[in-house]
Amino acid sequence: MLPEQQEFELTIVDVSRSGPGVARDPDGRVVFVPGTAPGDRVRVRVSKVEKRFVEAELLEVIAPSLERVAPRCRVFGKCGGCQWQHLDYSLQWRTKVSGALHALSRVGIRADGLPRDEFPASDPWSYRNRIQLRGGSFGVGFYSRGSHQVVPIDRCEIAREELNAALPSNRDEAIRRDASSKLELEVSESGEVSATWNSGHAAQGFRQIHDAQNALLQGWIAEKVNPGRVLLDLYGGSGNLSLGLSCRFDRVHSVDIGAGRLLGRLGGDVLPANVKFHSSDVGKWASRNRSIESSAGGACIIDPPREGCGEALPAICGLLDESSITQLFAVGCDPDSWARDVSRLVSKGWRLECLAFFDFFPQTIHFESVACLVRV
Ligand SMILES: C[S@@+](CC[C@H](N)C(=O)[O-])C[C@H]1O[C@@H](n2cnc3c(N)ncnc32)[C@H](O)[C@@H]1O
Repeated sequence: MLPEQQEFELTIVDVSRSGPGVARDPDGRVVFVPGTAPGDRVRVRVSKVEKRFVEAELLEVIAPSLERVAPRCRVFGKCGGCQWQHLDYSLQWRTKVSGALHALSRVGIRADGLPRDEFPASDPWSYRNRIQLRGGSFGVGFYSRGSHQVVPIDRCEIAREELNAALPSNRDEAIRRDASSKLELEVSESGEVSATWNSGHAAQGFRQIHDAQNALLQGWIAEKVNPGRVLLDLYGGSGNLSLGLSCRFDRVHSVDIGAGRLLGRLGGDVLPANVKFHSSDVGKWASRNRSIESSAGGACIIDPPREGCGEALPAICGLLDESSITQLFAVGCDPDSWARDVSRLVSKGWRLECLAFFDFFPQTIHFESVACLVRV
């Protein structure tokens, strides 16, 4: 058994969907090494020994893999934001797709043979329309990996250029304020940058952070959805995925815990008369409104936060049964909780028809998965 702090050499053979490169130690046990690429010959130091795996930190790349690329960012490896700037983008994308299929297989769903659409990002840089920074006498920065220490930055390679252009003046403001502060910078759809100090996450309401990929996701659902009487948009935010479909349904219900605040995003836009927003917890709303669209038929979009639907799922299924909804789009940004929700839906009588994967977060391990299900 390798003791902690021991240093040794190994060859990385794979990359795990959670980020680190994967190798075997001399005893055949799995070793995870962050910041490595398959094919790298590296020197590492053991940082944690568990029964079935070892974690090690990278000390030196002795011979680099052909899949290794030069990270663009000066603070890559220190900043907690990106995990994969050292990997060729095509490898990042392959790892995400195989990771989603692996997550499905772990809950008993063989999806390799199903129709699947893949949407890697056409430009894997300069895409984020919103960043959250920490400010203080050092200027502005991001939390480092796994800690609340701040890594100062003067640019972010995955942020939109409008946000990078706004960094110097906000850095000056952070220094002027001196005390530790939280700053959210966002570029609106019309290109204006806003700065929000010391407010909660997504202070101006949730918005997908990659506009081009969001348009692809909207387009994919629009292409697949069958028109009907009712569309339910659960965890609907400000109607991002349903407003554009409202002309294909008699009625749309969009349910989100922050619907009131999120509607501010729509500004003066006039909502279609057949769209109703409900500001509520989805589970509670589904239990209380089980008969709201009795036997109406139609489609449903479910796009929960990272942790998935959790305890709300039985109430959601009850609502879907009562309303005779026949088509379902399950969207998720965490492959494990998404796969768990999909398998629970399958066990409740839904059949998985096709899949789509969208890279909303290049250079990181995150992405969006969508399953289209139909009632058996
Ligand atoms: C991943 S976002 C999706 C938003 C929207 N579908 C979109 O594309 O912009 C998840 C949404 O779930 C909402 N949310 C989180 N927990 C909730 C709950 N228990 N009940 C209702 N909405 C919730 C958040 O406010 C957020 O808008």
